[in-house]
Amino acid sequence: MGFPTFVYNQLLVHPRLPPYTFADQTVIITGSNTGIGLETARHISRLGAHKVILAVRNLASGEAAKQSIETSTGRAPGTCVEVWHLDLADTHSMLAFADKALALSRLDAFIANAAVATKVFALAEGGYESSVTVNNISTFLLALTLLPKLRQTAKDHPNRFRPPHLTILTSQVHAWPQFPQWKDPRGTFVALSDEKTAKMDERYPVTKLLGVMLTRELVSQLGDDPGVIISMVETGFCDTELSRENKGIEEVAFNFWKTLFARTAEQGARTVVAGASAGKESHGTYMVNGVPAQEALGKWVQGEEGRIAQKRVWDEFGEIAEAIRPDVLKCLV
Ligand SMILES: NC(=O)c1ccc[n+]([C@@H]2O[C@H](COP(=O)([O-])OP(=O)(O)OC[C@H]3O[C@@H](n4cnc5c(N)ncnc54)[C@H](OP(=O)(O)O)[C@@H]3O)[C@@H](O)[C@H]2O)c1
Repeated sequence: MGFPTFVYNQLLVHPRLPPYTFADQTVIITGSNTGIGLETARHISRLGAHKVILAVRNLASGEAAKQSIETSTGRAPGTCVEVWHLDLADTHSMLAFADKALALSRLDAFIANAAVATKVFALAEGGYESSVTVNNISTFLLALTLLPKLRQTAKDHPNRFRPPHLTILTSQVHAWPQFPQWKDPRGTFVALSDEKTAKMDERYPVTKLLGVMLTRELVSQLGDDPGVIISMVETGFCDTELSRENKGIEEVAFNFWKTLFARTAEQGARTVVAGASAGKESHGTYMVNGVPAQEALGKWVQGEEGRIAQKRVWDEFGEIAEAIRPDVLKCLV
């Protein structure tokens, strides 16, 4: 996406809420105590969802979010919004969350919203760099674990308006980084977890690129009729806490940029709600402003080298995923 398109989208496009009801639906939104996730949860609660699960690492913050949603939507306390613990940097937390979610009677949408943008290198407990663990390994492992539940919900409720949704939050910054790690003989995830060579300035964009590749490969492995609508949502540049680490001149400059161009988190959330309720035409697509916009996807990821890298990244991810949760890839066959 070039700069003129960015400015046009940010200043002149006002995403609209889709006119659908979420009545009867159960929806999980990760990282929904703040930012775009919180506003997505608020919209979906207002649109009549039966159950909205705030999947958060900080339960106190999640409870405050729940209260704020109940107050603003008029949903009676305890009737719609639930707060569940999920720390994507902690494998045990992620697996416990997955098992709890698999026990739900239905799951209509899994919105993989949580992400971290950090320039500080740290290894998560599984041995991989922390933001790669949160934004990619745990997020996609959780999505894969819940995929059978989404498909079962489609079978159990055949008269539903649209199939269940797996909605992955991505970003236009996926098109920015050089990504030499895909060729690293040690493997991409190992290479990204080497502190000596890690370029943390571009780590967040790299995780968003990995997210695009993993989603595209998942869609391709599932074939023509997966029973679930999977899409990647780019929300536009929004004023949230994502840049919370910025300090000093960087913070001042970024805040100025936000003042000029940022959407509110609420406006960004409309594009997520659009993704999580879109029709089959959105399956496998990159969505911008709440509509499929495949042309806005980065050129490299669509090219020959991107396709080879995507397969390689997926195979490595698959090995990591199987080691953490044996047989998780069985849902693909
Ligand atoms: N803001 C933008 O301009 C923009 C543009 C395009 C795409 N996006 C995408 O939108 C999504 C939401 O971002 P945002 O802008 O709303 O950022 P945000 O305000 O920083 O929210 C991020 C959420 O992720 C949660 N999170 C971080 N690490 C986690 C972990 N280990 N386990 C569980 N949850 C964790 C955070 O929880 P805590 O509050 O506890 O930290 C928070 O709830 C992200 O996927 C981002 O890439 C944002």
